[in-house]
Amino acid sequence: MERIVTKRLVLRALKPSDAAAMFDYAKTDEVGPQAGWTPHKSVEESANILNYMIRTNEVWGITTRDNDTLIGTIGLHKDEDEKSTFRSLGYVLHPAYHGQGLMTEAVKALIVYAFEQTNIDIIGCGHFTDNIASQRVIEKCGFIYQKNIEKDFNLFGFKVRKTCAEYEITIDMYKENKLLWQQH
Ligand SMILES: CC(C)(COP(=O)(O)OP(=O)(O)OC[C@H]1O[C@@H](n2cnc3c(N)ncnc32)[C@H](O)[C@@H]1OP(=O)(O)O)[C@@H](O)C(=O)NCCC(=O)NCCS
Repeated sequence: MERIVTKRLVLRALKPSDAAAMFDYAKTDEVGPQAGWTPHKSVEESANILNYMIRTNEVWGITTRDNDTLIGTIGLHKDEDEKSTFRSLGYVLHPAYHGQGLMTEAVKALIVYAFEQTNIDIIGCGHFTDNIASQRVIEKCGFIYQKNIEKDFNLFGFKVRKTCAEYEITIDMYKENKLLWQQH
């Protein structure tokens, strides 16, 4: 997994020893439910999710440049229903680091990596319509709105129907205006 360095962040491979740091944000009510999952109840639960992410090799750990402690994750996920050059972007960040433009910085760097270094030609991304912070990240990163869809999630043991707004960036859009993504 390629290591990606931005002005303030390092995106690196996840490792089993990240479990406690992951639990520190995954246990909070501000993170998981906004991304469609129930907060983790134990470090063991975080360790299991972490091991799954390590196996699938689609998710980077986010750290700051001066401290290797995990503060979030960002991933480019394969979707079985889509052609193989499509990836779906997902991300979460520890609440202590919200509101500093960090996820926008990480997303832009991953877009540059995907279109410059891999054969990916479309990146999709979505947010719950009530998740304004994620909507802003998606807008600031130049994604183009496609449609709203309804999806079911299991949250706190209940089936919840949520409206998701879906967006895309194509490699052609990227090539036409690279500076939008490369200035970070
Ligand atoms: C979404 C998330 C990753 C954003 O990370 P971040 O580093 O704080 O994002 P940025 O600082 O780059 O941008 C956040 C933007 O949202 C805005 N924002 C945050 N909360 C807001 C709110 N309640 N109402 C309006 N705007 C809000 C900020 O002002 C900022 O926009 P601006 O630059 O125009 O001022 C972070 O909030 C998070 O981890 N949330 C929980 C998990 C999640 O939602 N994941 C995404 C699932 S789709």
